[in-house]
Amino acid sequence: MVLLSQILLISSSALTSTNYIDAICQHVENGTFCMQMLSAYPPAVSANDLFSLATIVINLGISYANNTGGFAADTAKKEPTLKEQFKSCQDEFDGIQLYLRMARGELKESPTSANYDIFLCTDITMHVKDLVGGKRDNASKTFLEMTLQMERLIDVAIGATVALGG
Ligand SMILES: *[C@@H]1O[C@H](CO)[C@@H](O)[C@H](O)[C@H]1NC(C)=O
Ligand SMILES: *[C@@H]1O[C@H](CO)[C@@H](O)[C@H](O)[C@H]1NC(C)=O
Ligand SMILES: *[C@@H]1O[C@H](CO)[C@@H](O)[C@H](O)[C@H]1NC(C)=O
Repeated sequence: MVLLSQILLISSSALTSTNYIDAICQHVENGTFCMQMLSAYPPAVSANDLFSLATIVINLGISYANNTGGFAADTAKKEPTLKEQFKSCQDEFDGIQLYLRMARGELKESPTSANYDIFLCTDITMHVKDLVGGKRDNASKTFLEMTLQMERLIDVAIGATVALGG
């Protein structure tokens, strides 16, 4: 009897977290990407409510922006001919991080403001795509891929603010 109720408890909490993931991913253009990414990320799967999941999603974006900015900074040091370009890319990703952090702070009081600030990040990724998009060197191509992934994470974060009413 105890075992049965534990099983029921586990399956109902798993169901709930899937529902939170659904609630966010239905507002994301590529819902498949959203579902696959969040279902494979244990902290997202074990989120207890929509607000926690939205915060987890924004934190993922912040961490990805930080790592991508770090890649830009390293490349600026290693490749003299690409220094200016990658310094600009680093600044742009610092901007993305800043907006995402602002959005995280606003999420509870005003999902609408959070939505707006995350939306501004899409202007930044567009600018970065202009900077590296036509370049043939390996670092720029790698950076373009990272920027496209950043865009997907931004889309999921926007979906999270919409799910919260933003
Ligand atoms: C949506 O995401 C899936 C999984 O990441 C990917 O295979 C697919 O190409 C994406 N679709 C579009 C239109 O980007
Ligand atoms: C940010 O990125 C740097 C590498 O560029 C890494 O050392 C650091 O741990 C990262 N910080 C966070 C909070 O992810
Ligand atoms: C291209 O750059 C990436 C990231 O720095 C690196 O992992 C990869 O080995 C490079 N490929 C080539 C062919 O230089």
